[in-house]
Amino acid sequence: MGRKSLSPTTLLFPTPVVLVTCVDGKGKPNIITLAWAGVVNSEPPMIGISIRPERYSHGCIKGTMEFVVNLPSEEMVRGVDACGVVSGRETDKFDLTGWKAVPAEKVKAPLIDECPVQMECKVKQIISLGSHDLFLGEIIALHVKEEVQKERGQIDIPKALPLAYCPGAREYWSLGKPLGHYGFTKGKP
Ligand SMILES: Cc1cc2nc3c(=O)[nH]c(=O)nc-3n(C[C@H](O)[C@H](O)[C@H](O)COP(=O)(O)O)c2cc1C
Repeated sequence: MGRKSLSPTTLLFPTPVVLVTCVDGKGKPNIITLAWAGVVNSEPPMIGISIRPERYSHGCIKGTMEFVVNLPSEEMVRGVDACGVVSGRETDKFDLTGWKAVPAEKVKAPLIDECPVQMECKVKQIISLGSHDLFLGEIIALHVKEEVQKERGQIDIPKALPLAYCPGAREYWSLGKPLGHYGFTKGKP
């Protein structure tokens, strides 16, 4: 089969798709859908999120230097898309989705109650990259719903039902079946 060269672009797939919550100067909460998000450090635990300066959430996060990364599950996909196509400048996205905002422990931005996992973050650094600004956030509080936890604090994936995004196809996907656990090949040629 042949191979075609395309102009360089960010064709890394799948990516996570996350719901980031923040508050504006008046304390009003907002939600932004982000695919440019990932783990950037383990100790201290840190996450990077890239946001275009024109997004309403960009100013909110820059103003408070705080945000919450909420991980949606499959059944939230319609709301995930909606929070990525309308702006908090005109629309209250908690009203729009019907999701419940619950107070966080350490930051002003709320948690989205329906999400199985929430990470409260403090911004440590902002790096302008071009189209996007990269916010590097330290995770200062972590919440996991009891029903998606297995013993020893591990996540029960069939219960959490994570959602992925595939930029090359512009599609949301659910995960398929598990293929092995970390290190399952060790000592087994
Ligand atoms: C699947 C998906 C992924 C997105 N990822 C990003 C992203 O990583 N960075 C970004 O700046 N905008 C991203 N967007 C666009 C914003 O979510 C969108 O512009 C949103 O309406 C901005 O909301 P706000 O103005 O309330 O902040 C994404 C949208 C979708 C649907």
